[in-house]
Amino acid sequence: MTNTNTMENTWRKYLHAKIHPILALFCLSSFVHHLVLAVPDQSRYPYQPTENIIIACGSSDNFISQDKRPILGDNSSQPSPLFELQNNASIASTAPQQPRSSSEKYFLKARLSYSPFTYIFNLMAGQKFIRLYFYPTWYPEFDNSKAFFSVKAGSFTLLSNFSASLTAAAIGQDTFFKEFCLNVEEGEKLNITFTPSPDYQQAYAFVNGIEIVSMPTNLYYTEAPTKAKFLHRPTDPTYSIENSTALETVYRVNIGGRLISPPLDTGMFRTWFGSYTDYLTYARSGAVAHYSSIPLTFSEIADYTAPTEVYQTAMTMGLDQEINANCRHSK
Ligand SMILES: *[C@@H]1O[C@H](CO)[C@@H](O)[C@H](O)[C@H]1NC(C)=O
Ligand SMILES: *[C@@H]1O[C@H](CO)[C@@H](O)[C@H](O)[C@H]1NC(C)=O
Ligand SMILES: *[C@@H]1O[C@H](CO)[C@@H](O)[C@H](O)[C@H]1NC(C)=O
Ligand SMILES: *[C@@H]1O[C@H](CO)[C@@H](O)[C@H](O)[C@H]1NC(C)=O
Ligand SMILES: *[C@@H]1O[C@H](CO)[C@@H](O)[C@H](O)[C@H]1NC(C)=O
Repeated sequence: MTNTNTMENTWRKYLHAKIHPILALFCLSSFVHHLVLAVPDQSRYPYQPTENIIIACGSSDNFISQDKRPILGDNSSQPSPLFELQNNASIASTAPQQPRSSSEKYFLKARLSYSPFTYIFNLMAGQKFIRLYFYPTWYPEFDNSKAFFSVKAGSFTLLSNFSASLTAAAIGQDTFFKEFCLNVEEGEKLNITFTPSPDYQQAYAFVNGIEIVSMPTNLYYTEAPTKAKFLHRPTDPTYSIENSTALETVYRVNIGGRLISPPLDTGMFRTWFGSYTDYLTYARSGAVAHYSSIPLTFSEIADYTAPTEVYQTAMTMGLDQEINANCRHSK
């Protein structure tokens, strides 16, 4: 929370940038059928996830998201083979209004509870993205200021003493998501448990959506026991991130370029923040470089690692030699 203003700006831009193009596509495609082609075709993605689902918590319906992905309600009368919900004391509820920042239907309903509740997922073994969606608001009979809770996935504590409304206030948006990566072992189910904070009276836990997307093995993880090296720097120390670690995304930025929304990613539905100005605090004579004319060939890294646009934009130093000379850092 060191730079709330920066985050706030970024989120505003992100959500505006994200919602509007997608909405536009959606409206067009409902009326003019051949324009459906404007929506990215999943089979053309460099990476095709084996699992790609969003649970709409509190919803009784199954539907299709604006980016054309299947959404499963957790309050449906027909159980899904994919997941099971434990705790019949939890409540499915509807927000008093659609959030300002998103028209995705899964934000309108939530599952809330004063006692722990668990989603048990039947997944294939492998590394996954887990994205949790929150719309903190006044759900009927729940006091918005009392939502303090933890979230555990398998043996990992993803969030602790977490307040979705304080987080939303800090970023200046009424909805947001948290992204994590973790590994699911062969033959194991993935349990995701929401537990109200024991430190507050009347504390409750809630969630609006849970997304699970599989990821290429060892995209972010390393293989044991050979430790990874930094590309082209064989003498630098190695690092390793093994399956026993869970990861949380803090920032993912397309430097020098625009926002890349989930359907425009390589198939993992990641969000790449744009608006380099929000992260760049000092750029006297820096320049934005576009390398879009250079054809990309992927040899050392896989083509699904990042959208080509991420490679084709950059920040460089400017052309003022004097200023650049002053930028040299001393050893
Ligand atoms: C909830 O589940 C418990 C244990 O399975 C059961 O005893 C109880 O009757 C259930 N309550 C409701 C409201 O279904
Ligand atoms: C959840 O399902 C129950 C039983 O079908 C229904 O009465 C209730 O209205 C549903 N809640 C929501 C928020 O859709
Ligand atoms: C980590 O998990 C992945 C997928 O579950 C597996 O393919 C890989 O071999 C594991 N890595 C190690 C070092 O065990
Ligand atoms: C939980 O978070 C709140 C708000 O940030 C803070 O005031 C409180 O001290 C925290 N409680 C614990 C037990 O960490
Ligand atoms: C998940 O929860 C179920 C039911 O509570 C339990 O039987 C199972 O051992 C849990 N699995 C893991 C991996 O924690």
